Amino acid sequence: MAETITDLRGLPREAAYAELRDQVNAVLEGIDDPIAGMATISALLHGALGFLWTGFYRVAVPGKLLRIGPYQGSLGCLEITFGKGVCGTAAAERRTVIVDDVDQFPGHIACDARSRSEIVVPVFDRSGELIALLDVDSEDLAAFGDEDRSGLEEMVKWFRTAAAN
Ligand code: SME
Repeated sequence: MAETITDLRGLPREAAYAELRDQVNAVLEGIDDPIAGMATISALLHGALGFLWTGFYRVAVPGKLLRIGPYQGSLGCLEITFGKGVCGTAAAERRTVIVDDVDQFPGHIACDARSRSEIVVPVFDRSGELIALLDVDSEDLAAFGDEDRSGLEEMVKWFRTAAAN
């Protein structure tokens, strides 16, 4: 198991995500607790890629309410209604949402005024239920693209394949 988190900012994103997936699988070997998975993935991603905020919102009331889960970064908003902000939109539509400029996204919820762009990826369990959203925020405009989408969507497949329902 890696004892320290490797800084992967020097690698092309695709290679960084491949390396991170290996690290996630190694660190979480034998673990099926989804909260342990969220905490570990937040720490690895945040440490490796140096984003502003990296973490999970959990589905607290299906179809209605998200509540903060494990994260790294400044204080996150505690609850988000389905359909509100970027996380609530990704939850309601069950799809990844990339926002190049949060000021242009109607209803964006500013937990940290430094956040300029973000990506939110839905997390499904093995029965296909939406259980959480992975939210990554950056201080830079348009920090996320297709490589982040595919890298992060692959990473959260851990919750489909390894986590207990
Ligand atoms: N910006 C998010 C809220 C969560 S924080 O950024 C941590 C949104 O609009 O969903």
